Amino acid sequence: MPIETIMVVGAGQMGSGIAQVAAQSGHSVILHDIKAELAERGRAAIEQRLSRYVEKEKMSGEEKAGVLSRLRLSTELEHVRQADIVIEAVTEKMEVKADLFRRLDEMAPTEVILASNTSSLPITEIAAETGRPDRVIGMHFMNPVPVMKLVEIIRGLATSDGVSREVENLARAMGKTPVEVKDFPGFVSNRVLMPMINEAIYTVYEGVATPEAVDEVMKLGMHHPMGPIQLADFIGLDTCLYIMETLYEGFGDPKYRPCPLLRQYVKAGWLGRKTGRGFYAYD
Ligand code: CAA
Repeated sequence: MPIETIMVVGAGQMGSGIAQVAAQSGHSVILHDIKAELAERGRAAIEQRLSRYVEKEKMSGEEKAGVLSRLRLSTELEHVRQADIVIEAVTEKMEVKADLFRRLDEMAPTEVILASNTSSLPITEIAAETGRPDRVIGMHFMNPVPVMKLVEIIRGLATSDGVSREVENLARAMGKTPVEVKDFPGFVSNRVLMPMINEAIYTVYEGVATPEAVDEVMKLGMHHPMGPIQLADFIGLDTCLYIMETLYEGFGDPKYRPCPLLRQYVKAGWLGRKTGRGFYAYD
């Protein structure tokens, strides 16, 4: 049975992006958040992006209306009863996700797949909160979701082959390329990306080069679309620090120690684009 109805829990930047690509690929989408205004904000972000596609003649007005008609907003977790899969995209805190997965597990019919968009928390631990660890899996989308092709599929210790296949097929149906990885700290994406970003911040900290120079080296020299410092600001410096700490704790290896300058920026509340200031200033 192909997946038809997708419930996305969390209507922030990642959740609204996931809901958008799900609705664009013909799925029926329930976009959930705890408050109606947060769900509405997610919908407004989607509508704004779709309008831009219409302006650029990449989508017709009818297609836009069709996408929006497949999107329903919800503040009731019970709506999970109408879904085939949940994709969770709430805050990266284990206690928040654990509580959410326990509640979803109680309410959702037994066949519903519970997926998490976590960028670094262990899927096996989230799955252990539920009575269906074989039906819990990681679906890690990249930011910005409508643009980036990858979905990292993270198999927990108990995830079944069948669920893994269903979720890979869903990622393909959403126009993405799934890549399966095992459940170890940082998975593959952040285990490789974050130490590079952290090292780039070390080069600034040690006075080797300015943020601009580091970014220029990596953009022009390695053909990266954004330099690592610019990318850190884009992802959020708090998220970068959190993931480095997860790697450091998870492997106990000093090569993952977060740069003190990264810690200092986070303490200052300079979190990057979202706060208007990080290594760069934004209006
Ligand atoms: N949402 C939707 N679409 C967006 C977008 C957004 N936030 N930002 C840009 N786009 C679209 C634009 O509309 C444009 O589309 P068209 O080509 O169809 O017109 C296209 O992307 C290119 O945009 P721009 O010309 O404005 O800018 P750009 O060429 O510099 O691309 C970028 C912007 C796609 C963000 C590019 O800089 C890039 O790929 N950056 C690296 C992003 C990256 O590495 N993401 C992974 C982060 S790590 C992560 O997500 C995992 C984690 O756990 C932390």
